[in-house]
Amino acid sequence: MLTVALPKGRLMKQAAELFGRAGRDISEVLGDSRRLRFDLDDAGLTVLAVKPSDVPTYVEYGVADAGVAGRDVLAEAGRDLYEMLDLGIGVCRLSVAEPVESEPDRGGALRVATKYPECARRHFLARGRPVEIIKLYGSVELAVMCGLADRIVDLVETGETLRQNHLVETDTILEVSARLVVNRASLKTRREAVDELLGQLKGVLT
Ligand code: PRP
Repeated sequence: MLTVALPKGRLMKQAAELFGRAGRDISEVLGDSRRLRFDLDDAGLTVLAVKPSDVPTYVEYGVADAGVAGRDVLAEAGRDLYEMLDLGIGVCRLSVAEPVESEPDRGGALRVATKYPECARRHFLARGRPVEIIKLYGSVELAVMCGLADRIVDLVETGETLRQNHLVETDTILEVSARLVVNRASLKTRREAVDELLGQLKGVLT
């Protein structure tokens, strides 16, 4: 049995569908939102349902052999993991956005609201742009409307949230999709089981 950390929320359904097509029926995880651990003998997997941003931590510490995490989450977490496979789900981008009618940039410190402080900091630092990062946990678009921030760094999928909140994308920081990540030790000690899962997932991706 391999232990796999999967992200609770919108990506879980797509991940379960993908694992199912790969011959690992984990649909049981979609049924009960309170249960956090599923021992699925037929699928040969123990699934840990964790908060998306916690997936890299579970995998780095080896309590999960593998996990599914967005490239955004991996970039922000900066954990020491093997990124093995682009799963092609959860496709979106991490972008900078500003109000449609924004003041001309006068070069002073910009206030940037985001759930991704590390990614945002790196992006503006690389451009030599002074910023004050304001860490939020959701509904980041609201920060600009309320005057809390001048810019946001957030995920954009359809662009609808930006449109409805009178924001416009100015830069893409990262093209995002979900990745299969593997613990460094598991890749050596459980190589056969990891390779089997990888092969099955690759088989349905191509
Ligand atoms: C995500 C993201 C954007 C929105 C983008 O938010 O943070 O707000 O989806 O999608 P769109 O481009 O298709 O409109 P989520 O729904 O996860 O809520 P949150 O911001 O409160 O975390």
